[in-house]
Amino acid sequence: MATAAAPPASFTLAPKPSAGASLLQLPVRVAQALVSPGSGEGLLSLLPGFVRQVLPGWDPDRDMPDMFGKVVLVTGANSGIGYQTTRLLARNNAHVIMVVRDIDKGKKAIEDIKSEFSFAKLTLMQADMASLKSVRKLADDVLATGSPLHVLINNAGVLAPGPFTVTEEGFELTLATNFYGPLYLTLLLLPRLRASAPARIVNVASFGEMFGKVHWDDLRGVDMSSSGLTPYAASKLYLLMVSRDLNRRLRGIGVDVFPVHPGIVSTPGEAKSDRSYLVSLSALINSRLHGQSALRGALAPLFAATEPKMQGRGGTYLGPNAFGLQLFGWGGFNTVAREPVNWAAKDAETCKQLYDATRAVLDSATVAAGLGKVPVTHFQEAQAEALGKEAEVGGKPGLPLESASWR
Ligand SMILES: NC(=O)c1ccc[n+]([C@@H]2O[C@H](COP(=O)([O-])OP(=O)(O)OC[C@H]3O[C@@H](n4cnc5c(N)ncnc54)[C@H](OP(=O)(O)O)[C@@H]3O)[C@@H](O)[C@H]2O)c1
Repeated sequence: MATAAAPPASFTLAPKPSAGASLLQLPVRVAQALVSPGSGEGLLSLLPGFVRQVLPGWDPDRDMPDMFGKVVLVTGANSGIGYQTTRLLARNNAHVIMVVRDIDKGKKAIEDIKSEFSFAKLTLMQADMASLKSVRKLADDVLATGSPLHVLINNAGVLAPGPFTVTEEGFELTLATNFYGPLYLTLLLLPRLRASAPARIVNVASFGEMFGKVHWDDLRGVDMSSSGLTPYAASKLYLLMVSRDLNRRLRGIGVDVFPVHPGIVSTPGEAKSDRSYLVSLSALINSRLHGQSALRGALAPLFAATEPKMQGRGGTYLGPNAFGLQLFGWGGFNTVAREPVNWAAKDAETCKQLYDATRAVLDSATVAAGLGKVPVTHFQEAQAEALGKEAEVGGKPGLPLESASWR
């Protein structure tokens, strides 16, 4: 992969949002926010521009650093939150490896981003995140480029992808897409992330964690026999819990892991999912009333991926601080450190047990698929090395793997 070229001299950030609504526009904005899913920025769009400019909180137009020289991989980059994440990273000069499952959709997304930012440095790769074989090929393709990798954003996900389905490798489809695929990709790319440190892994979880539970006897989800929210809630809970434990295990090697919660976002995926009446109804209500756009949904992943002050603070769960506050669409509410709601995700020991258990499931699946076990030595060695370094300089020995601390 070629080294990144200098940004064009004419480079400027995207224009700030237009000055707020005039009184005459107000009824139109309100109507838009209510009837057009994903079009609005919530009630924020009703505020005059000068008020929006001075609101505290993280604003990517103002606060996102230049990402020149950084390589970021985003899965599900063609649509919704992943598209907006890619778009703003490219705008700020990152080289983005866009992972999509449909190449044509990926090409269209590139075309759209380049029409705004002609200098955007984008590389397209294909993978089905629900297939371990496909994820392995993706990792091989990424590693073969020889490029550094500074940030991995596991964004691709599904909510309720139609009738109950078990993948070729024996996982319920939602769990395969939202959890096992991203976990496998993360472990395979870890050596490259570590070599590129400081590096970050951003896992797009969900407020759905609060409804999830750990299905210890059915970690593959094959007995859930439900196409409703059960597999989704479980997948996002597992992603959150394993992110926290992985961060603890990686401590000292310069790779931070951030689980993030994008808020409730009206995205194309929400509209197209084939799902139960209840899920459709809740999506409809969210779309109409919250009106949070995909761009606002991208704030938490972007903040976790780029904010300098988050360096070394992996394990922090970032997102809107409460269910209702994102209503205002205000970035300040979208990028705060928050606590998981689910007790299981608060408990370090349970997270550790889940990591070990799901790693064992993943290993048996990759072995059965002829892909071999996921190598772990790279990060055990890395940690031993990091601990050795701390000992050499007379620092405190690092936390052992069993430690109960997140950070
Ligand atoms: N929207 C919300 O309110 C909300 C709330 C909490 C969490 N999230 C999470 O945010 C992330 C992004 O979702 P979104 O709202 O932006 O939805 P979206 O618009 O449907 O985007 C999902 C992306 O994931 C891709 N994808 C789905 N299955 C895949 C697979 N098997 N292999 C590769 N790519 C796959 C989709 O590709 P295609 O375009 O080809 O389908 C699409 O690019 C997801 O992880 C979602 O669970 C969303």
